[in-house]
Amino acid sequence: MSKHSVELTINGRRHCSDVEARTSLSDFLRDDAGYTGVHLGCEHGVCGACTVMVDGKAVRSCLMLAVQADGKTVKTAEGLAQPDGTLHPVQQAMMEEAGLQCGFCTPGFVMTLAALTDGDQRPSEEELLGALSGNVCRCTGYQGIRRAAKRLAGTATGEES
Ligand code: FES
Ligand code: FES
Repeated sequence: MSKHSVELTINGRRHCSDVEARTSLSDFLRDDAGYTGVHLGCEHGVCGACTVMVDGKAVRSCLMLAVQADGKTVKTAEGLAQPDGTLHPVQQAMMEEAGLQCGFCTPGFVMTLAALTDGDQRPSEEELLGALSGNVCRCTGYQGIRRAAKRLAGTATGEES
């Protein structure tokens, strides 16, 4: 099987490798680059667990080929916290609002929210909650995750429980 050379910047580090054309970005990130925070649930673009940022946009990495990501900048959940361990605001909000239980879905939710809130973006509560509709969680009942999103939008009231 012929291989193709790809070069990505992942969490600030360059990563070069030769991959088969059919290799998904999710498999590449997990198996080749070692970023196992990219979780795989459905592998059909339905659950959102594999969500990463590609050039700042949320992408389901099970639906993208590694060769399509050649030359792009990828961020996974491992790349969100500061080097000193300070959590990203999305991670902090998820932690403080109890937005996770088993944690399997969590990297996908966190990356979905981070793609909307990073930089100077000021998404509305509606936009944040709407974005979450593409991610599936089997544990939490979503209320903690919704509270985290509202906190990020600046509209948390403390009433939802
Ligand atoms: S594993 Fe990619 S969307 Fe479910
Ligand atoms: S916390 Fe377990 S699937 Fe969401």
